[in-house]
Amino acid sequence: MAGNIDTKAVKGTRDFYPDDMRVRNWLFSTWRTVAARFGFEEYDSCILESEDLYIRKAGDEITSQLYNFTDKGSRRVALRPEMTPSLARMFLNRGNTISLPARWFSLPQCFRYERAQKGRKREHFQWNMDIIGLDHVAAEVELMAAQAAFMEAVGLSTEKGQADIAIKVSNRQVIQTYLESLDIRDEDFAAVCVIIDKRDKIGDDATTDLLTEYGIAQETAQKIIALLSVRGLEQLRETVGADNLGYQSLAELMELAEQSQIAHLIDIDLSVVRGLSYYTGTVWELFDASGAMPRAVSGGGRYDKLMEHLGGKPTPMVGFGFGDVVITLILEEKGLIPQLNRGIDDMIYPMQSSGFAVANSIAARLRGQGRSVLVDYSCRRFKHIIKAAEKDKIERLIILGDKEIENGVANVRNMETREEVATAIEELV
Ligand code: HAM
Repeated sequence: MAGNIDTKAVKGTRDFYPDDMRVRNWLFSTWRTVAARFGFEEYDSCILESEDLYIRKAGDEITSQLYNFTDKGSRRVALRPEMTPSLARMFLNRGNTISLPARWFSLPQCFRYERAQKGRKREHFQWNMDIIGLDHVAAEVELMAAQAAFMEAVGLSTEKGQADIAIKVSNRQVIQTYLESLDIRDEDFAAVCVIIDKRDKIGDDATTDLLTEYGIAQETAQKIIALLSVRGLEQLRETVGADNLGYQSLAELMELAEQSQIAHLIDIDLSVVRGLSYYTGTVWELFDASGAMPRAVSGGGRYDKLMEHLGGKPTPMVGFGFGDVVITLILEEKGLIPQLNRGIDDMIYPMQSSGFAVANSIAARLRGQGRSVLVDYSCRRFKHIIKAAEKDKIERLIILGDKEIENGVANVRNMETREEVATAIEELV
């Protein structure tokens, strides 16, 4: 505490000190590089949105986790908990002027009032990649390939037999087809998905209870739960038949994934449902293959009806959100966060304040040449300067003693070889 103010960051939120910021920037730049490699364009919107955008009838957990309030103009607003509704809203506004299919990505900060636990915060950054206007599983496969490319870019293995990640994939149409045969559809289907997504946490019995409370017959509820234990295409076909649309779509996805060399990363796993009610087709989650990290690293899916729900034209959309929290934990644990330094080329050390003017003039000229220059005005002892220069991986240390300045020279120390050479100041720049 400082005075009466609590100096801790708000519960579940993070401060990014310079060391943390370097890691964050490295992660963001890797995300941007991978997105660019797949031809995606970056977009953004404001962190503050209308609350309406997140209110859904199906009972999505995300709605109960909103950071929402009334602003001074009596508008109900919320800090965005995810990017997808903003993306749909932006598309809706520009309607016909955006040529489809579009490939967009963004790196939004999102807020959810969640119970803070390992891998979950109340604020996180999320790499989003979405393809708009492509009604084919080729889009899903491309998005999964981009996730795999990111994993390779940060040094994780995607090799067959030793991959560090697994992509669990399902398709909501499998259950939808079954429920439609019982006349359970639309909002009711979405609500069922939100309920069965809780199964991992609450178990089969409690899930059955929630389904029956919602009005699903006990027998149907049990059938739905049995479907969730299906694994692999073979078993899926045997269980739901080859004419089930969800099965067909997954089979096609696997064929394409084979050619994109990511099929070995994919497990067909019907227990993946996803907690957001807007998904209509493929849903997937990416996990740490060792199982040490139980939370999903990322999650996504197809949501072909969201635009219509917001009052727009039917538009196929598919994408994923990939948070910064879990992946950073995994990379730290595996020692894969690179040594990131401040990126300073030259450090200038005037030994007395009388040398500041010359130091500034050298710095200005070196900066003009595109070098990063730090002038150390502390006049502290040489051993401290050397220590700082070593820590920050500085290339050259330019030492300015008064006597040297009088003679128009500086002692230039190559920090790698530790060689020190008296150099004419005019030659330095
Ligand atoms: P989501 O599964 O709610 O999906 O979140 C996606 C990812 O964001 C998670 O897998 C996790 O990495 C990260 N994440 C979510 N909540 C937290 C949290 N409280 N703390 C840390 N990380 C978190 C969506 O948000 C969808 N909008 C994704 C999407 C994009 N679907 C289609 N396009």
